[in-house]
Amino acid sequence: MKETLNYIQENKQLYIDELFELLRIASISADPAYKDEVLKCADEVARFLENAGADNVEVCATKGYPIVYGEKLIDPNLPTVLVYGHYDVQPPDPLELWKKPPFEPYIEKTEIHPEGAIFARGSADDKGQFFMHIKALEAMMKTNTLPCNVKCIFEGEEEVGSKSLEAFVNENKEKLSCDVILISDTHIYSNEQPTVTTGLRGLSYVEVEVEGPNRDLHSGLYGGAVPNPIHVLSRMIANLIDDNGHITIEGFYDNVETVSEEERAEMNKLKDDQEHFKKSIGLNGVEGEKGYTTLERTSIRPTLDCNGIWGGYIGEGAKTVIPSKAFAKISMRLVPYQTPEEITEKFTKYFEKLAPANVKVKVTPHHGGMPYVLPSDTKEFRAAKAAMETAFGKEVLPYRSGGSIPITAMFEQVLEAKSVLMGFGLDSDAIHSPNEHYGLYNFYKGIESIPLFFENYAK
Ligand code: BES
Ligand code: MN
Ligand code: MN
Repeated sequence: MKETLNYIQENKQLYIDELFELLRIASISADPAYKDEVLKCADEVARFLENAGADNVEVCATKGYPIVYGEKLIDPNLPTVLVYGHYDVQPPDPLELWKKPPFEPYIEKTEIHPEGAIFARGSADDKGQFFMHIKALEAMMKTNTLPCNVKCIFEGEEEVGSKSLEAFVNENKEKLSCDVILISDTHIYSNEQPTVTTGLRGLSYVEVEVEGPNRDLHSGLYGGAVPNPIHVLSRMIANLIDDNGHITIEGFYDNVETVSEEERAEMNKLKDDQEHFKKSIGLNGVEGEKGYTTLERTSIRPTLDCNGIWGGYIGEGAKTVIPSKAFAKISMRLVPYQTPEEITEKFTKYFEKLAPANVKVKVTPHHGGMPYVLPSDTKEFRAAKAAMETAFGKEVLPYRSGGSIPITAMFEQVLEAKSVLMGFGLDSDAIHSPNEHYGLYNFYKGIESIPLFFENYAK
């Protein structure tokens, strides 16, 4: 192990230059205008994987964006780790809020990252994180210390629902067979308190439309006498959560897992620094479901948020109009044992019921995903905890995260293997936001932790 870590130490600077090459590619999966960039990114990832020493590197075509595959199989009697990551990124807008262009990576020091952080779209989610695995593999190959088999898959549609990967996994069960899946696409609690992610929330996502009059109306001639769809929609959305922070959808909590007092006590061991939390996002107060801490509200409890709302006139100047329609996008984060199908159905029924009789509503479901949990009394968790404790030189605690990686539940179902979420970002990395960044300290701790995980797991 020492020689692996030494090798990493000696090649540190090179890794940054290489990662910058990936970060310069605008692999935005949501926007068809960037198709060529996404495809180019897949080829580059394959090239890096090949250079790292992986065998049978392939850019596997799918109905959507390709899946990059590579492997190093050394002995069928040894366990196999399947590494997963995604090379697509979220759209960078609003562009004007970036200090420098999103696909021109640079390093700058910040208060939280005194060693410097890499700024670029995808630096933390997920290029900077899956690239750690390629470099860790390379280090193990170069120093002849790979302790087990490894397979890698990197997809290009995670940010838009992983549809092609779903099909690929179903069709390639044998090719992807493994003992454990290792993923770096989450964050730790803080650099002072590193954590292994033991849970992810599921997701149900809907778009709603409220239609009032059959055309836009003059607000002077009709105002005051007809339902205004914007008013109606706002009232309906406001009614989805009550004064105690409870979601009012009928049956919404029916299947929610009751987390034991022990587990709640364990998770609340994390120093819940409310002052820092509020300051970091410019708030003077928090809110949420009554009876739960901020940590619990963002992990073991389901939530509902309006992500966007529009309708009527939003251009320059004033236009006196009552719009015919109003729209909103609404996401719900789910916990075990809720399912996106169940929740989407309950939402739709309830939303239709909430609507006054003089408007029409339409609910269109988008992609969803199942929640996922890795219990802390498993060998998968212990291997990750021990690896990170060695790398960080600190105690590592379990941490249930609020985000979603829907493919983890599918991996469990189809490949019958647990996913270990050993991510190294921070919640302050501004993923999906302007000025996304990834700490150099975190990047290097990640590269060091990975070979240690392999070693622990193969034991
Ligand atoms: N890497 C994130 C998920 C994440 C980030 C989980 C930090 C935990 C901590 C992933 O790329 C993502 O953005 N997932 C989406 C869901 C997906 C279906 C679009 C999400 O959580 O909104
Ligand atoms: Mn991600
Ligand atoms: Mn993401």
